[in-house]
Amino acid sequence: MHRKLLLPLALLMACQTAPAKDSAPAPTASRAAPRKGLPKPEHISEDVRDAIASKMREHGDDMTVMLWSILFLDLQGSGEYARAMAARPPIPDTVDGHEVPKPILELQHELRARAEILATMAAAAGEESPAATRDPRKFAEAFGELTRVCVACHAAYLYPGRANEK
Ligand code: HEC
Repeated sequence: MHRKLLLPLALLMACQTAPAKDSAPAPTASRAAPRKGLPKPEHISEDVRDAIASKMREHGDDMTVMLWSILFLDLQGSGEYARAMAARPPIPDTVDGHEVPKPILELQHELRARAEILATMAAAAGEESPAATRDPRKFAEAFGELTRVCVACHAAYLYPGRANEK
C-alpha cells in the first residue's frame, strides 16, 4: 500500500474503534412506546370514561395493524382494518344516565367517516390500478386525516374548552 495512505487509514481505524466516551446517549426512539393511555380529567364521569376506554383499546389495536399495512401499501389489509374500525359499535350518547359530551360524539362520527374513506380507497385492491397505488400520497394523507381525528378527540377530552379547534 502507498505510504501516504497509511496515516489517514490508521487514524480512521483509531476513530472507529475508540470507545465513544463523549458521545451523546444512544437514541431511545427505537424502544417500543408504552401505551400509557390518557390522564383522567374531572369533567367526565367514571362510567363514561370506562365505556370509552374499552372502545379505545379496540381502536388502538386496529390502528397498530392499520399503520403497518399502510406503510407497506397492503391494500387488502388496510381495507379490512379500516372497515373493521368503521364498523365498531359506537360510544352511546348516554352511559348510565350520564351524557357523553357532544364534541366527542361528533368526532366519533368523523372518525367513522374517515375510516370509510380509507376503506373505499383500499377497496379497489385487486383491481388493475387501485386508487391507493395510483396515488400513494393520497392514501397516506387519508391515514393522516384519520389520525388527526384520534388526536382531536383526545384533545377534546382533555381540554374541553378547546374542543372545537381543528
Ligand atoms: C370520539 C373521541 C375519540 C376518538 C375519535 C378517538 N379516541 Fe381514543 N380515547 C378517547 C378517550 C375519551 C379516551 C380516554 C378514555 C379513558 O379514560 O381511558 C381515549 C383513550 C384511548 C386509548 C387508551 C385506552 C386505554 O387503554 O385506556 C387508546 C389506545 C386510544 N384512545 C386510541 C385511539 C386511536 C388509535 C384513535 C383513532 C383511530 C382514537 N383513540 C380515537 C376518545 C377518542
